[in-house]
Amino acid sequence: MSMNSRIFFRFLVWWIFFSFFSGLISSAVVRLDSIEIYNTHDWITKPTVYFVCKGENMTVLPDVTKANTVYTFKGEESWQPLTELKSKKCKRCGFYEEDTFKSDDVFDEWEFCASDFKANGKYILFKEKELNVTFTCEECASLPAGTFNTDTNNDNKGNKLRVGIIVLIVLVALTVTIFGLMMAYKYWQKRKRQQDQARFLKLFEEGDDLEDELELGN
Ligand SMILES: *[C@@H]1O[C@H](CO)[C@@H](O)[C@H](O)[C@H]1NC(C)=O
Ligand SMILES: *[C@@H]1O[C@H](CO)[C@@H](O)[C@H](O)[C@H]1NC(C)=O
Repeated sequence: MSMNSRIFFRFLVWWIFFSFFSGLISSAVVRLDSIEIYNTHDWITKPTVYFVCKGENMTVLPDVTKANTVYTFKGEESWQPLTELKSKKCKRCGFYEEDTFKSDDVFDEWEFCASDFKANGKYILFKEKELNVTFTCEECASLPAGTFNTDTNNDNKGNKLRVGIIVLIVLVALTVTIFGLMMAYKYWQKRKRQQDQARFLKLFEEGDDLEDELELGN
């Protein structure tokens, strides 16, 4: 009975731990893979292209200066990673070009969502006459989307199931380990008792032998 309640207690602790943890790791870094712009809005100076998400700092792409040229990146440039995405919320992001005279020109502004990434971790943003951008985010497709909250769209369900299965496996493994350890301890105890008993009996027998010898001597 007490063993059962202990296992249940551990179950509970792990469950709480996991629900907390999955909330913490639900963001993933996004890197810029390549970009091609199809026009520049600035006629006089070299264009300054930048990326920004609402409420965040802007990231200037210093190399991107010419139209109709594909710029590819390794993902380790000084300004990478480009941004971070959370599992539940999309971000309003955009590519812009600085403009000295009027407000900055917009290449594209869109809702950037972790769920847009394919299973291979790629996402392509394409807007005719403006730009073609590929992003990489390895973790985005497998983010534990809203594991223990009330969000219910299909992606979330898939991820929930996955996390649920992982939690289940861990719990089973844990239970088996604890059970195994307890069995091992029980077995060890039993063996020790048997050995003690054997030693005790042997002591008796030796005592008997001694007595016999004493009697014989007399
Ligand atoms: C924006 O940049 C400033 C200075 O570089 C930094 O202190 C701040 O934390 C940044 N904010 C965000 C939201 O990244
Ligand atoms: C956009 O860029 C990617 C990577 O350079 C390329 O594979 C893809 O064909 C491009 N798409 C268009 C419509 O140009």
